[in-house]
Amino acid sequence: MNDEIILQCQGLTKRYQQGELDVQVLKGVDLQIHAGSRVAIMGASGSGKSTLLHLLGGLEKPSSGEVILDQVAINKISSSKLAKLRNRSLGFIYQFHHLLGEFSLLENVAMPLLIGDKSIKEAQHLATELLDRVGLGHRVKHKPGELSGGERQRAAIARALINKPKCVLADEPTGNLDSKTAENIYQLMQELNQELHVSFLIVTHDADLANRMDTVLHMEDGLIVDALTEE
Ligand SMILES: Nc1ncnc2c1ncn2[C@@H]1O[C@H](COP(=O)(O)OP(=O)(O)OP(=O)(O)O)[C@@H](O)[C@H]1O
Ligand SMILES: [Mg+2]
Repeated sequence: MNDEIILQCQGLTKRYQQGELDVQVLKGVDLQIHAGSRVAIMGASGSGKSTLLHLLGGLEKPSSGEVILDQVAINKISSSKLAKLRNRSLGFIYQFHHLLGEFSLLENVAMPLLIGDKSIKEAQHLATELLDRVGLGHRVKHKPGELSGGERQRAAIARALINKPKCVLADEPTGNLDSKTAENIYQLMQELNQELHVSFLIVTHDADLANRMDTVLHMEDGLIVDALTEE
């Protein structure tokens, strides 16, 4: 068992204040994700799951508390350093996937590699291979707008995994997928977990998927309320 902590937060709170609106969305979350571990977060709609993932990924700033990614306290570094760290260490699968509409699937998936230091040829090769694995080998030249919702989601998953990040944050990765495609995505995550020790933090409403992870956390009204660990 590898005890290295790849991602953690301490006392994380998030409050939205706009005029009369004052919502305390996260109320002090402590969480540790070890290298190579697979963690699921479940919880009712509105309990703060997506907000937590956004803060853990440095996409939004907490109101208080700290996020430490790969030994770096991310609120203490510049935005350009954070962007580099994020590109190197994290993969994101958003609840509403953000593919770039004017680029082909191949370009979308290859992009994180090009932002890194890979040659165009190598990036295209790796992107084609991964698109094949998520069942989109026949769609590489299509633009996101020409695909179904599930196809776009699979492309977004390929893009999140292409860099072989240390940790993948996934918001409902199999949410809109049929059971066969969802199983393929699970198998792909499983392979990356075992071959490359990638850790996964997955928000899901799917109890079957959650129960296949090592740990299931439950969120309720901005707090993690309990943890069921299988060892
Ligand atoms: N920008 C914002 N301003 C004000 N309130 C917000 C903002 N973003 C989120 N919230 C509120 O924070 C709460 C938690 O939202 P969040 O998206 O984290 O929930 P969730 O657990 O991911 O729900 P779901 O399962 O429906 O995706 C919600 O009540 C939401 O209305
Ligand atoms: Mg959500």
